[in-house]
Amino acid sequence: MWVSPAVRSDVVPDPADPLGERTGGATTVWATGKNAFSFPAANLSDAERTRFVIGNSFFKRNWVIAPASTTARDGLGPHFIARSCGACHAMDGRGAPPQLRRGLNDEQPVALLLRLSVPGRDAHGGPLPEPVYGDQFTNAAVPGVKPEGEVTIRWKPVHGRFADGTPYTLQQPIYGFRKLGYGPMARDVMLSPRIAPQVIGMGLLEAIPEAEIERNAAEQAAMPGPIKGQPNRVWDVVTGREMIGRFGWKANVATVAHQTAAAFLGDMGITSSYFPQEACTPAQADCLAAPRGARGQAPEIDDKTLQDVIFYTATLAPPARRHARDPQVLRGQQLFAQAQCAVCHRPSYRTAQAPFPPLSSPALQDQTIWPYTDLLLHDMGEALADGRPDFRAHGRQWRTPPLWGIGLLRDVNGHQRLLHDGRARGVLEAILWHGGEAEDSKQQVLRMSREDREALVKFVESL
Ligand code: HEC
Ligand code: HEC
Repeated sequence: MWVSPAVRSDVVPDPADPLGERTGGATTVWATGKNAFSFPAANLSDAERTRFVIGNSFFKRNWVIAPASTTARDGLGPHFIARSCGACHAMDGRGAPPQLRRGLNDEQPVALLLRLSVPGRDAHGGPLPEPVYGDQFTNAAVPGVKPEGEVTIRWKPVHGRFADGTPYTLQQPIYGFRKLGYGPMARDVMLSPRIAPQVIGMGLLEAIPEAEIERNAAEQAAMPGPIKGQPNRVWDVVTGREMIGRFGWKANVATVAHQTAAAFLGDMGITSSYFPQEACTPAQADCLAAPRGARGQAPEIDDKTLQDVIFYTATLAPPARRHARDPQVLRGQQLFAQAQCAVCHRPSYRTAQAPFPPLSSPALQDQTIWPYTDLLLHDMGEALADGRPDFRAHGRQWRTPPLWGIGLLRDVNGHQRLLHDGRARGVLEAILWHGGEAEDSKQQVLRMSREDREALVKFVESL
Protein backbone atom coordinates (compact mmCIF):
# COMPACT_ATOMS: atom_id res chain seq x y z
CA MET A 1 0.00 0.00 0.00
CA TRP A 2 1.28 3.47 -0.87
CA VAL A 3 0.56 6.29 1.55
CA SER A 4 1.64 9.88 1.09
CA PRO A 5 4.05 11.14 3.78
CA ALA A 6 1.47 13.71 4.92
CA VAL A 7 -0.94 11.02 6.07
CA ARG A 8 1.44 8.20 7.02
CA SER A 9 1.08 8.83 10.75
CA ASP A 10 -2.68 8.57 10.46
CA VAL A 11 -2.66 4.93 9.38
CA VAL A 12 -2.22 2.59 12.32
CA PRO A 13 0.04 -0.17 10.96
CA ASP A 14 -1.37 -3.67 11.32
CA PRO A 15 0.74 -6.27 9.49
CA ALA A 16 -2.10 -8.80 9.73
CA ASP A 17 -4.53 -6.42 8.00
CA PRO A 18 -2.62 -3.80 5.97
CA LEU A 19 -5.65 -2.78 3.88
CA GLY A 20 -8.03 -2.40 6.79
CA GLU A 21 -10.38 -5.08 5.56
CA ARG A 22 -11.43 -5.82 9.14
CA THR A 23 -13.13 -2.42 9.37
CA GLY A 24 -13.92 -2.75 13.08
CA GLY A 25 -11.11 -5.07 14.22
CA ALA A 26 -12.50 -8.10 16.08
CA THR A 27 -16.01 -6.57 16.07
CA THR A 28 -16.19 -6.80 12.24
CA VAL A 29 -18.95 -8.80 10.55
CA TRP A 30 -18.67 -10.17 7.02
CA ALA A 31 -22.03 -9.04 5.71
CA THR A 32 -23.52 -7.48 2.61
CA GLY A 33 -27.15 -7.09 1.52
CA LYS A 34 -30.12 -5.57 3.28
CA ASN A 35 -29.05 -6.60 6.81
CA ALA A 36 -25.41 -5.51 6.49
CA PHE A 37 -25.69 -2.81 9.20
CA SER A 38 -27.85 -4.80 11.62
CA PHE A 39 -25.44 -7.30 13.19
CA PRO A 40 -23.98 -7.13 16.69
CA ALA A 41 -20.21 -6.75 17.14
CA ALA A 42 -18.85 -10.21 16.31
CA ASN A 43 -17.03 -10.56 19.63
CA LEU A 44 -19.89 -9.81 22.08
CA SER A 45 -20.48 -12.31 24.88
CA ASP A 46 -23.71 -14.35 24.99
CA ALA A 47 -25.16 -12.13 27.74
CA GLU A 48 -24.34 -9.05 25.69
CA ARG A 49 -26.03 -10.54 22.63
CA THR A 50 -29.22 -10.97 24.64
CA ARG A 51 -29.06 -7.34 25.68
CA PHE A 52 -28.46 -6.34 22.05
CA VAL A 53 -31.61 -8.23 20.98
CA ILE A 54 -33.73 -6.44 23.60
CA GLY A 55 -32.29 -3.06 22.62
CA ASN A 56 -32.99 -3.87 18.98
CA SER A 57 -36.69 -4.44 19.63
CA PHE A 58 -37.06 -1.01 21.28
CA PHE A 59 -35.07 0.63 18.46
CA LYS A 60 -37.30 -0.85 15.76
CA ARG A 61 -40.81 -1.13 17.22
CA ASN A 62 -43.23 1.79 17.12
CA TRP A 63 -43.98 3.81 20.26
CA VAL A 64 -47.68 4.55 20.74
CA ILE A 65 -49.82 7.44 21.93
CA ALA A 66 -50.79 7.52 25.65
CA PRO A 67 -53.01 6.28 27.15
CA ALA A 68 -52.57 2.83 25.62
CA SER A 69 -52.72 -0.82 26.66
CA THR A 70 -48.98 -1.33 25.92
CA THR A 71 -47.65 0.81 28.76
CA ALA A 72 -44.05 -0.28 28.07
CA ARG A 73 -44.06 1.67 24.81
CA ASP A 74 -46.48 4.55 25.22
CA GLY A 75 -45.91 8.28 25.53
CA LEU A 76 -45.27 9.15 21.87
CA GLY A 77 -45.42 12.94 21.33
CA PRO A 78 -47.19 15.35 21.97
CA HIS A 79 -45.01 16.57 19.08
CA PHE A 80 -42.88 14.08 17.18
CA ILE A 81 -41.40 13.30 13.78
CA ALA A 82 -41.26 9.50 13.83
CA ARG A 83 -42.56 6.62 15.91
CA SER A 84 -39.32 4.65 16.22
CA CYS A 85 -35.57 5.05 15.85
CA GLY A 86 -35.79 2.63 12.93
CA ALA A 87 -38.27 4.85 11.06
CA CYS A 88 -35.41 7.28 10.37
CA HIS A 89 -32.42 4.91 10.65
CA ALA A 90 -34.11 2.30 8.43
CA MET A 91 -32.34 -1.04 8.79
CA ASP A 92 -29.88 0.80 11.10
CA GLY A 93 -28.94 2.70 7.95
CA ARG A 94 -29.43 6.09 6.39
CA GLY A 95 -32.44 8.15 5.49
CA ALA A 96 -33.12 10.05 2.25
CA PRO A 97 -34.88 13.33 1.54
CA PRO A 98 -38.52 12.98 0.41
CA GLN A 99 -39.41 12.12 -3.19
CA LEU A 100 -39.86 15.27 -5.20
CA ARG A 101 -42.58 15.98 -7.70
CA ARG A 102 -43.53 19.22 -9.48
CA GLY A 103 -40.55 20.99 -7.94
CA LEU A 104 -41.93 20.90 -4.37
CA ASN A 105 -42.12 18.00 -1.95
CA ASP A 106 -45.56 16.36 -1.53
CA GLU A 107 -44.33 14.09 1.23
CA GLN A 108 -43.14 15.38 4.59
CA PRO A 109 -39.54 14.49 5.39
CA VAL A 110 -39.06 11.91 8.13
CA ALA A 111 -35.37 11.05 8.20
CA LEU A 112 -34.44 14.66 7.39
CA LEU A 113 -34.98 16.96 10.33
CA LEU A 114 -34.50 20.70 10.75
CA ARG A 115 -32.72 22.04 13.84
CA LEU A 116 -33.77 25.59 14.78
CA SER A 117 -32.18 28.35 16.81
CA VAL A 118 -31.85 32.10 17.20
CA PRO A 119 -28.59 34.04 17.78
CA GLY A 120 -27.14 33.59 21.27
CA ARG A 121 -26.22 30.64 23.48
CA ASP A 122 -28.00 28.54 26.07
CA ALA A 123 -26.68 28.03 29.61
CA HIS A 124 -24.23 25.33 28.41
CA GLY A 125 -22.89 27.15 25.35
CA GLY A 126 -25.24 25.34 22.97
CA PRO A 127 -27.66 26.84 20.44
CA LEU A 128 -30.49 29.05 21.75
CA PRO A 129 -33.84 27.46 20.78
CA GLU A 130 -36.35 29.33 18.61
CA PRO A 131 -38.73 30.76 21.30
CA VAL A 132 -42.00 29.28 19.92
CA TYR A 133 -40.89 26.15 18.02
CA GLY A 134 -37.93 25.03 20.16
CA ASP A 135 -34.66 23.54 18.93
CA GLN A 136 -36.08 21.14 16.38
CA PHE A 137 -39.01 21.40 13.98
CA THR A 138 -41.53 18.54 14.30
CA ASN A 139 -44.18 17.87 11.68
CA ALA A 140 -46.44 15.39 13.50
CA ALA A 141 -48.51 15.53 16.70
CA VAL A 142 -50.90 13.39 18.75
CA PRO A 143 -54.67 14.01 18.30
CA GLY A 144 -55.79 17.28 19.95
CA VAL A 145 -52.37 18.89 19.59
CA LYS A 146 -51.44 21.07 16.62
CA PRO A 147 -48.52 19.87 14.54
CA GLU A 148 -45.82 22.54 14.28
CA GLY A 149 -46.30 22.64 10.53
CA GLU A 150 -44.77 21.33 7.33
CA VAL A 151 -41.34 21.57 5.74
CA THR A 152 -40.98 22.60 2.10
CA ILE A 153 -37.98 21.78 -0.08
CA ARG A 154 -37.24 23.28 -3.49
CA TRP A 155 -34.25 22.29 -5.59
CA LYS A 156 -32.05 24.59 -7.61
CA PRO A 157 -29.73 23.06 -10.24
CA VAL A 158 -26.02 23.94 -10.00
CA HIS A 159 -24.02 23.28 -13.18
CA GLY A 160 -20.31 22.58 -13.54
CA ARG A 161 -17.70 20.81 -15.66
CA PHE A 162 -14.72 18.54 -15.12
CA ALA A 163 -11.42 19.63 -16.73
CA ASP A 164 -11.99 17.02 -19.46
CA GLY A 165 -15.20 18.83 -20.44
CA THR A 166 -17.70 16.37 -18.92
CA PRO A 167 -20.63 18.39 -17.53
CA TYR A 168 -22.38 17.69 -14.23
CA THR A 169 -25.45 19.07 -12.42
CA LEU A 170 -25.86 19.16 -8.65
CA GLN A 171 -29.14 19.89 -6.85
CA GLN A 172 -29.06 22.60 -4.16
CA PRO A 173 -31.96 22.33 -1.69
CA ILE A 174 -33.81 25.41 -0.41
CA TYR A 175 -35.80 24.88 2.79
CA GLY A 176 -38.93 26.60 4.00
CA PHE A 177 -42.05 26.07 6.14
CA ARG A 178 -45.79 26.14 5.54
CA LYS A 179 -48.93 25.73 7.67
CA LEU A 180 -47.09 26.91 10.80
CA GLY A 181 -49.23 25.81 13.78
CA TYR A 182 -48.15 28.44 16.32
CA GLY A 183 -47.71 31.57 14.22
CA PRO A 184 -44.60 32.99 12.61
CA MET A 185 -41.07 32.04 13.64
CA ALA A 186 -38.56 34.58 14.96
CA ARG A 187 -37.27 36.78 12.13
CA ASP A 188 -33.67 35.80 12.85
CA VAL A 189 -34.33 32.02 13.01
CA MET A 190 -31.49 29.81 11.71
CA LEU A 191 -32.08 26.32 10.28
CA SER A 192 -29.82 23.31 10.05
CA PRO A 193 -31.08 20.41 7.92
CA ARG A 194 -29.75 16.99 9.00
CA ILE A 195 -30.30 13.54 7.55
CA ALA A 196 -30.27 10.38 9.68
CA PRO A 197 -26.92 8.60 9.10
CA GLN A 198 -26.17 4.89 9.41
CA VAL A 199 -25.51 3.93 13.04
CA ILE A 200 -22.77 1.29 12.68
CA GLY A 201 -19.61 1.37 14.82
CA MET A 202 -20.90 4.11 17.17
CA GLY A 203 -19.34 2.60 20.31
CA LEU A 204 -16.01 2.21 18.51
CA LEU A 205 -15.99 5.91 17.60
CA GLU A 206 -16.79 6.65 21.23
CA ALA A 207 -13.75 4.58 22.30
CA ILE A 208 -11.27 6.66 20.27
CA PRO A 209 -9.15 8.48 22.89
CA GLU A 210 -9.82 12.25 23.09
CA ALA A 211 -6.03 12.73 22.79
CA GLU A 212 -6.12 11.23 19.27
CA ILE A 213 -8.78 13.72 18.15
CA GLU A 214 -6.70 16.54 19.59
CA ARG A 215 -3.63 15.12 17.83
CA ASN A 216 -5.49 15.26 14.50
CA ALA A 217 -6.13 18.96 15.07
CA ALA A 218 -2.52 19.63 16.14
CA GLU A 219 -1.11 17.80 13.09
CA GLN A 220 -3.37 19.68 10.72
CA ALA A 221 -2.47 22.98 12.38
CA ALA A 222 1.23 22.20 11.81
CA MET A 223 0.73 21.23 8.15
CA PRO A 224 1.02 23.79 5.36
CA GLY A 225 -2.24 24.44 3.50
CA PRO A 226 -5.80 25.31 4.41
CA ILE A 227 -6.88 22.11 6.22
CA LYS A 228 -7.29 23.10 9.89
CA GLY A 229 -9.84 20.93 11.65
CA GLN A 230 -11.08 21.80 15.13
CA PRO A 231 -12.76 19.63 17.74
CA ASN A 232 -16.23 20.65 18.86
CA ARG A 233 -16.71 20.85 22.64
CA VAL A 234 -20.23 20.20 23.79
CA TRP A 235 -22.28 19.77 26.94
CA ASP A 236 -23.04 16.13 27.72
CA VAL A 237 -26.09 15.52 29.94
CA VAL A 238 -25.05 11.97 30.81
CA THR A 239 -21.67 12.87 32.32
CA GLY A 240 -22.73 16.41 33.25
CA ARG A 241 -19.60 17.93 31.75
CA GLU A 242 -18.13 19.44 28.61
CA MET A 243 -16.55 16.86 26.29
CA ILE A 244 -15.24 16.63 22.71
CA GLY A 245 -18.23 16.18 20.38
CA ARG A 246 -18.17 13.15 18.05
CA PHE A 247 -21.73 12.46 16.89
CA GLY A 248 -24.11 14.39 14.68
CA TRP A 249 -23.19 16.30 11.51
CA LYS A 250 -21.56 19.07 13.53
CA ALA A 251 -20.04 16.81 16.20
CA ASN A 252 -22.72 18.38 18.40
CA VAL A 253 -23.06 15.38 20.74
CA ALA A 254 -20.33 13.64 22.77
CA THR A 255 -21.79 10.26 23.72
CA VAL A 256 -24.05 7.57 22.29
CA ALA A 257 -26.03 7.76 25.53
CA HIS A 258 -26.76 11.48 25.15
CA GLN A 259 -27.56 11.06 21.44
CA THR A 260 -30.00 8.23 22.17
CA ALA A 261 -31.83 9.97 25.01
CA ALA A 262 -31.97 13.24 23.01
CA ALA A 263 -33.43 11.36 20.02
CA PHE A 264 -36.10 9.77 22.21
CA LEU A 265 -37.15 13.25 23.33
CA GLY A 266 -36.62 15.38 20.25
CA ASP A 267 -37.65 12.96 17.51
CA MET A 268 -40.30 10.87 19.29
CA GLY A 269 -41.42 12.88 22.33
CA ILE A 270 -40.34 10.18 24.80
CA THR A 271 -39.03 11.57 28.10
CA SER A 272 -36.24 9.84 30.06
CA SER A 273 -34.33 10.42 33.27
CA TYR A 274 -31.76 12.39 31.23
CA PHE A 275 -34.44 14.56 29.54
CA PRO A 276 -37.47 14.51 31.91
CA GLN A 277 -39.41 17.45 30.37
CA GLU A 278 -41.46 17.18 27.16
CA ALA A 279 -40.07 19.46 24.45
CA CYS A 280 -43.10 21.81 24.46
CA THR A 281 -42.33 25.53 24.52
CA PRO A 282 -44.33 27.91 26.78
CA ALA A 283 -46.20 29.13 23.67
CA GLN A 284 -47.54 25.60 22.99
CA ALA A 285 -50.35 25.31 25.57
CA ASP A 286 -51.99 22.28 23.87
CA CYS A 287 -48.65 20.45 23.88
CA LEU A 288 -48.10 21.23 27.59
CA ALA A 289 -51.61 19.99 28.46
CA ALA A 290 -51.47 16.70 26.48
CA PRO A 291 -51.64 13.38 28.43
CA ARG A 292 -48.32 11.88 29.53
CA GLY A 293 -47.21 8.24 29.25
CA ALA A 294 -48.79 5.59 31.48
CA ARG A 295 -45.87 5.73 33.91
CA GLY A 296 -47.37 8.99 35.22
CA GLN A 297 -44.78 11.26 36.82
CA ALA A 298 -41.95 8.84 35.91
CA PRO A 299 -40.13 9.30 32.59
CA GLU A 300 -41.86 7.63 29.65
CA ILE A 301 -38.93 5.28 29.02
CA ASP A 302 -37.52 3.47 32.06
CA ASP A 303 -33.75 3.48 32.67
CA LYS A 304 -33.23 -0.21 31.89
CA THR A 305 -34.92 0.01 28.49
CA LEU A 306 -33.08 3.24 27.66
CA GLN A 307 -29.78 1.62 28.57
CA ASP A 308 -30.55 -1.42 26.42
CA VAL A 309 -31.20 0.84 23.41
CA ILE A 310 -27.95 2.73 24.12
CA PHE A 311 -26.07 -0.57 24.33
CA TYR A 312 -27.64 -1.74 21.08
CA THR A 313 -26.77 1.50 19.28
CA ALA A 314 -23.18 1.35 20.57
CA THR A 315 -22.56 -2.25 19.53
CA LEU A 316 -23.88 -2.42 15.94
CA ALA A 317 -20.91 -3.78 13.99
CA PRO A 318 -19.24 -2.13 11.02
CA PRO A 319 -19.20 -4.57 8.07
CA ALA A 320 -15.91 -5.68 6.49
CA ARG A 321 -14.50 -3.96 3.40
CA ARG A 322 -15.12 -5.53 0.00
CA HIS A 323 -12.82 -5.75 -3.07
CA ALA A 324 -9.88 -4.19 -1.17
CA ARG A 325 -7.35 -5.97 -3.43
CA ASP A 326 -9.01 -5.09 -6.73
CA PRO A 327 -6.41 -3.13 -8.79
CA GLN A 328 -8.90 -0.34 -9.53
CA VAL A 329 -9.65 0.00 -5.80
CA LEU A 330 -5.92 0.06 -4.97
CA ARG A 331 -5.45 2.82 -7.56
CA GLY A 332 -8.36 4.70 -5.95
CA GLN A 333 -6.71 4.34 -2.56
CA GLN A 334 -3.57 6.07 -3.89
CA LEU A 335 -5.67 8.88 -5.32
CA PHE A 336 -7.51 9.23 -1.99
CA ALA A 337 -4.18 9.91 -0.28
CA GLN A 338 -2.83 12.13 -3.10
CA ALA A 339 -5.93 14.34 -3.13
CA GLN A 340 -5.58 14.79 0.66
CA CYS A 341 -8.91 13.13 1.33
CA ALA A 342 -7.16 11.04 4.00
CA VAL A 343 -6.12 14.11 5.99
CA CYS A 344 -9.73 14.73 7.04
CA HIS A 345 -11.05 11.23 6.39
CA ARG A 346 -8.30 9.74 8.61
CA PRO A 347 -8.21 6.01 7.92
CA SER A 348 -7.51 4.25 11.22
CA TYR A 349 -7.27 4.31 15.01
CA ARG A 350 -6.67 2.09 17.98
CA THR A 351 -9.58 2.19 20.42
CA ALA A 352 -9.27 2.55 24.18
CA GLN A 353 -11.93 2.30 26.88
CA ALA A 354 -15.43 3.66 26.32
CA PRO A 355 -16.40 6.67 28.48
CA PHE A 356 -19.15 4.69 30.30
CA PRO A 357 -18.31 1.01 30.57
CA PRO A 358 -21.84 0.02 31.74
CA LEU A 359 -23.42 1.42 28.57
CA SER A 360 -20.80 -0.06 26.27
CA SER A 361 -18.87 -3.31 25.92
CA PRO A 362 -15.28 -4.39 26.61
CA ALA A 363 -15.46 -5.98 23.13
CA LEU A 364 -15.03 -2.49 21.64
CA GLN A 365 -11.71 -1.88 23.43
CA ASP A 366 -8.20 -2.29 21.99
CA GLN A 367 -9.38 -2.68 18.40
CA THR A 368 -7.74 -1.31 15.26
CA ILE A 369 -10.62 0.34 13.41
CA TRP A 370 -10.96 1.99 9.98
CA PRO A 371 -13.66 4.69 10.14
CA TYR A 372 -12.05 7.28 7.78
CA THR A 373 -12.74 10.37 9.88
CA ASP A 374 -10.77 12.82 12.04
CA LEU A 375 -13.95 13.66 13.99
CA LEU A 376 -13.02 17.34 13.52
CA LEU A 377 -15.01 20.31 12.22
CA HIS A 378 -14.00 21.82 8.89
CA ASP A 379 -15.07 24.92 7.02
CA MET A 380 -16.59 23.33 3.91
CA GLY A 381 -17.43 26.53 2.06
CA GLU A 382 -20.50 28.60 1.40
CA ALA A 383 -22.46 26.13 -0.75
CA LEU A 384 -22.71 23.61 2.12
CA ALA A 385 -23.04 26.19 4.92
CA ASP A 386 -26.16 26.20 7.11
CA GLY A 387 -25.19 29.48 8.80
CA ARG A 388 -26.21 28.04 12.18
CA PRO A 389 -23.65 27.69 15.00
CA ASP A 390 -23.79 24.56 17.17
CA PHE A 391 -21.62 24.80 20.32
CA ARG A 392 -18.16 25.70 18.92
CA ALA A 393 -19.07 24.82 15.33
CA HIS A 394 -19.77 27.86 13.17
CA GLY A 395 -22.16 28.14 10.27
CA ARG A 396 -19.75 26.85 7.60
CA GLN A 397 -18.31 23.96 9.58
CA TRP A 398 -19.25 20.28 9.44
CA ARG A 399 -17.73 17.21 11.07
CA THR A 400 -15.88 14.86 8.73
CA PRO A 401 -18.32 11.94 8.54
CA PRO A 402 -16.97 8.40 8.86
CA LEU A 403 -16.91 6.72 5.44
CA TRP A 404 -17.17 3.12 6.67
CA GLY A 405 -20.21 1.33 5.27
CA ILE A 406 -20.82 3.94 2.57
CA GLY A 407 -20.49 1.36 -0.23
CA LEU A 408 -23.25 -0.73 1.35
CA LEU A 409 -25.91 2.01 1.55
CA ARG A 410 -27.48 0.90 -1.73
CA ASP A 411 -27.73 -2.67 -0.42
CA VAL A 412 -29.24 -1.60 2.91
CA ASN A 413 -31.34 1.45 2.02
CA GLY A 414 -31.67 1.31 -1.75
CA HIS A 415 -30.18 4.79 -2.24
CA GLN A 416 -26.89 6.63 -1.95
CA ARG A 417 -27.98 10.10 -0.80
CA LEU A 418 -24.97 11.66 0.93
CA LEU A 419 -23.90 14.75 2.94
CA HIS A 420 -25.60 16.36 5.92
CA ASP A 421 -28.97 16.76 4.21
CA GLY A 422 -28.80 13.99 1.64
CA ARG A 423 -28.45 16.43 -1.27
CA ALA A 424 -25.67 14.47 -3.03
CA ARG A 425 -26.72 11.57 -5.24
CA GLY A 426 -23.62 9.41 -4.87
CA VAL A 427 -19.96 9.68 -3.94
CA LEU A 428 -18.82 11.84 -6.86
CA GLU A 429 -21.53 14.46 -6.22
CA ALA A 430 -20.58 14.48 -2.53
CA ILE A 431 -16.99 15.32 -3.51
CA LEU A 432 -18.15 18.03 -5.94
CA TRP A 433 -19.93 19.80 -3.06
CA HIS A 434 -16.65 19.97 -1.06
CA GLY A 435 -15.30 23.53 -0.76
CA GLY A 436 -13.58 25.70 1.86
CA GLU A 437 -10.76 23.71 3.48
CA ALA A 438 -11.45 20.88 0.99
CA GLU A 439 -11.43 23.11 -2.12
CA ASP A 440 -7.96 21.87 -3.22
CA SER A 441 -9.09 18.24 -2.91
CA LYS A 442 -12.10 18.94 -5.08
CA GLN A 443 -9.95 20.77 -7.65
CA GLN A 444 -7.71 17.71 -7.89
CA VAL A 445 -10.76 15.54 -8.58
CA LEU A 446 -12.01 17.99 -11.22
CA ARG A 447 -8.67 17.58 -13.01
CA MET A 448 -8.70 13.77 -12.84
CA SER A 449 -9.35 11.61 -15.88
CA ARG A 450 -12.63 9.70 -15.98
CA GLU A 451 -10.70 6.53 -15.21
CA ASP A 452 -9.15 8.02 -12.06
CA ARG A 453 -12.48 9.47 -10.90
CA GLU A 454 -14.03 6.05 -11.24
CA ALA A 455 -11.15 4.44 -9.31
CA LEU A 456 -11.51 6.98 -6.49
CA VAL A 457 -15.25 6.32 -6.23
CA LYS A 458 -14.64 2.54 -6.37
CA PHE A 459 -12.23 2.87 -3.44
CA VAL A 460 -14.69 4.91 -1.35
CA GLU A 461 -17.40 2.34 -2.14
CA SER A 462 -15.13 -0.48 -0.96
CA LEU A 463 -15.25 1.01 2.56
C1 HEC B 1 -36.74 11.82 13.03
C2 HEC B 1 -35.68 10.97 12.56
C3 HEC B 1 -34.81 10.30 13.60
C4 HEC B 1 -35.20 9.45 14.62
C5 HEC B 1 -36.60 9.01 14.99
C6 HEC B 1 -33.98 9.04 15.29
N1 HEC B 1 -32.90 9.61 14.70
FE1 HEC B 1 -30.96 9.29 15.17
N2 HEC B 1 -30.40 10.74 13.91
C7 HEC B 1 -31.25 11.46 13.10
C8 HEC B 1 -30.54 12.57 12.52
C9 HEC B 1 -31.11 13.62 11.58
C10 HEC B 1 -29.22 12.49 13.01
C11 HEC B 1 -28.10 13.52 12.80
C12 HEC B 1 -28.30 14.52 13.92
C13 HEC B 1 -27.43 15.74 13.94
O1 HEC B 1 -26.58 15.92 13.08
O2 HEC B 1 -27.58 16.55 14.87
C14 HEC B 1 -29.17 11.31 13.87
C15 HEC B 1 -28.02 10.88 14.51
C16 HEC B 1 -27.96 9.75 15.30
C17 HEC B 1 -26.74 9.19 15.84
C18 HEC B 1 -25.33 9.70 15.59
C19 HEC B 1 -24.83 9.20 14.26
C20 HEC B 1 -23.51 9.78 13.84
O3 HEC B 1 -22.88 9.25 12.91
O4 HEC B 1 -23.08 10.79 14.38
C21 HEC B 1 -27.11 8.11 16.61
C22 HEC B 1 -26.19 7.21 17.39
C23 HEC B 1 -28.55 8.02 16.55
N3 HEC B 1 -29.03 9.02 15.73
C24 HEC B 1 -29.31 7.10 17.25
C25 HEC B 1 -30.70 7.15 17.31
C26 HEC B 1 -31.50 6.37 18.23
C27 HEC B 1 -30.95 5.39 19.25
C28 HEC B 1 -32.79 6.70 18.00
C29 HEC B 1 -34.04 6.26 18.76
C30 HEC B 1 -34.02 6.55 20.17
C31 HEC B 1 -32.80 7.67 16.93
N4 HEC B 1 -31.52 7.93 16.55
C32 HEC B 1 -33.95 8.22 16.39
C33 HEC B 1 -32.58 11.20 12.87
C34 HEC B 1 -33.37 10.40 13.68
C1 HEC C 1 -11.12 19.47 4.78
C2 HEC C 1 -11.58 18.14 5.15
C3 HEC C 1 -12.04 17.22 4.06
C4 HEC C 1 -11.35 16.81 2.94
C5 HEC C 1 -9.97 17.22 2.49
C6 HEC C 1 -12.24 15.88 2.26
N1 HEC C 1 -13.39 15.73 2.96
FE1 HEC C 1 -14.94 14.56 2.44
N2 HEC C 1 -16.08 15.40 3.88
C7 HEC C 1 -15.64 16.32 4.80
C8 HEC C 1 -16.78 16.84 5.52
C9 HEC C 1 -16.71 17.86 6.65
C10 HEC C 1 -17.92 16.23 4.99
C11 HEC C 1 -19.39 16.46 5.39
C12 HEC C 1 -19.93 17.68 4.64
C13 HEC C 1 -21.43 17.82 4.72
O1 HEC C 1 -22.13 16.88 5.08
O2 HEC C 1 -21.94 18.91 4.38
C14 HEC C 1 -17.44 15.28 3.98
C15 HEC C 1 -18.25 14.40 3.29
C16 HEC C 1 -17.77 13.43 2.41
C17 HEC C 1 -18.57 12.38 1.82
C18 HEC C 1 -20.04 12.09 2.14
C19 HEC C 1 -20.10 11.24 3.38
C20 HEC C 1 -21.46 10.97 3.91
O3 HEC C 1 -21.55 10.19 4.87
O4 HEC C 1 -22.47 11.51 3.43
C21 HEC C 1 -17.74 11.67 1.00
C22 HEC C 1 -18.11 10.45 0.17
C23 HEC C 1 -16.43 12.29 1.06
N3 HEC C 1 -16.49 13.35 1.94
C24 HEC C 1 -15.33 11.88 0.35
C25 HEC C 1 -14.17 12.64 0.23
C26 HEC C 1 -13.13 12.41 -0.76
C27 HEC C 1 -13.11 11.27 -1.76
C28 HEC C 1 -12.21 13.39 -0.59
C29 HEC C 1 -10.97 13.66 -1.43
C30 HEC C 1 -11.21 13.97 -2.81
C31 HEC C 1 -12.64 14.20 0.54
N4 HEC C 1 -13.84 13.74 0.99
C32 HEC C 1 -11.91 15.26 1.07
C33 HEC C 1 -14.34 16.71 4.99
C34 HEC C 1 -13.33 16.55 4.05
